[in-house]
Parts: sequence; C-alpha cells; structure tokens
Amino acid sequence: MRYFLFAFALVVAAVVSILGFRGTTFTKPPLEIFPDMDRQSKYKPQSSSEFFADGRTDRLPVTGTVARGFLKDDDFLHFGKDGENWAKGFPMPVTQEFVEHGAQKYAIYCTACHGGTGDGNGVTKFRGMVTTPSYHDARLRDMPEGEIFNTLTNGKGLMGYYKDKLTVEDRWAVIAYMRVLQRSQNATVADVPQANRKDLGL
Ligand code: HEC
Repeated sequence: MRYFLFAFALVVAAVVSILGFRGTTFTKPPLEIFPDMDRQSKYKPQSSSEFFADGRTDRLPVTGTVARGFLKDDDFLHFGKDGENWAKGFPMPVTQEFVEHGAQKYAIYCTACHGGTGDGNGVTKFRGMVTTPSYHDARLRDMPEGEIFNTLTNGKGLMGYYKDKLTVEDRWAVIAYMRVLQRSQNATVADVPQANRKDLGL
C-alpha cells in the first residue's frame, strides 16, 4: 500500500508537471503530443503579408486566366464575327424546335417593345419609346445575323443588353425567330409551295 501511494504521488506529479494546473496561464506554447495541425504556415483570407509588394495575401489570378467552361474561343458563336466582318447565318443547325424556343424567348423579352409581329409597335411605343424600329425595313432584313447577335448581347441606344438574361444559344434562337417574323411579313408567291398556290386562287 505504501508503494502504491508513492507510485500514485509520482504519477500525479508527472501528470501535473506535463499538463499543468487547470486555469493556469502559460506564456509558452503547451507541450503538444498530438498537434493536430494547429499551427500551419499559411495565409488567412484578407490578411496582410510582407512577402508581396502590395502587402496583401489575396492574389489576383494570373492574367488571362479563364474559368473552366468560360473560354469564348468561337468568334462566330460568341461574338457573331467572321474575321473582321459580321457573320452571316447561324453557328448551329436551325431546327423547328430551335425556332420555337426562340419564339418563346422573343415573347418574353422582346414583344413589349418590338411587338408580336416585329413591327416595332409594342406597348412601350404608346408610352413614349418611339424609336423602336420595325424588323421589316430593308436595313434590318439585310442585317447580318452576327450584327443582330451583337445588338442582343450588348444592347443599342435605348434597348438594353441581354447577355445575362439570354444564353448564347437563346440569343441565336431569338434571331432565328426574328427571321421568321421578317419572312412572314415579306413573303412572295415563290414562298408558297406549288400544292398550296391554288388556295390563293393562283
Ligand atoms: C425596352 C424596349 C426594347 C426591348 C425590350 C427590346 N428592344 Fe430591340 N430595340 C429597342 C429600341 C428602342 C431600338 C432602337 C435602338 C437604336 O437604334 O437606338 C431597338 C433596336 C433593335 C434592333 C435593331 C438594332 C440596329 O442595329 O438597328 C434589333 C435587331 C432588336 N432591337 C432586337 C431586339 C430583340 C431580339 C429583343 C428581345 C431580346 C429586343 N430587341 C428587345 C427597344 C427594345
């Protein structure tokens, strides 16, 4: 029993000398058996650093860095450009489904100003937006699709831009539907299939 008490006293002394009394304030870091990566040589966000000339730990990405999936390497698709010129035609196949998608987006984003048929007589015309053009002028009928794409992307005059409301594909689809509207108001007999011409009394 005497030995036990002696050994116990030794253990207590050893534990206390390593771990210290509760509530004791230490000025040196405690002895760490498992440091658990408490201390690492790293920068915390928005703190300062003497290493960099501007004194900030936050660094800008390397110039020219592009987030994955955001590389715009197709001039036709992303900018409507064909070399120095505005591109003509569409960078993707124009299907019935594609045009119908465009019609839907057109109804949501464009009719208020450009009107359901694209004649420029949307509701805003009667509220003072008198400069909205008709799509049926020769100028807009002959305008390359790429130039229209640029107008939709960046806006023009009183018309806002749609680069954040319409995806690249949406914008091209809307242009396809604009072409439909233009054809609808400027068709000739040659557009009517032979079989249907008799319906017109021809
Ligand atoms: C807030 C009203 C408004 C809305 C909405 C609007 N536009 Fe316009 N749009 C205008 C006005 C105004 C102009 C004339 C801009 C100018 O030439 O100053 C214009 C011009 C245009 C032109 C001719 C650009 C040129 O180069 O002359 C096209 C093409 C066009 N809009 C397409 C669209 C399409 C497609 C949408 C839907 C995605 C749309 N607009 C939505 C008001 C609007």
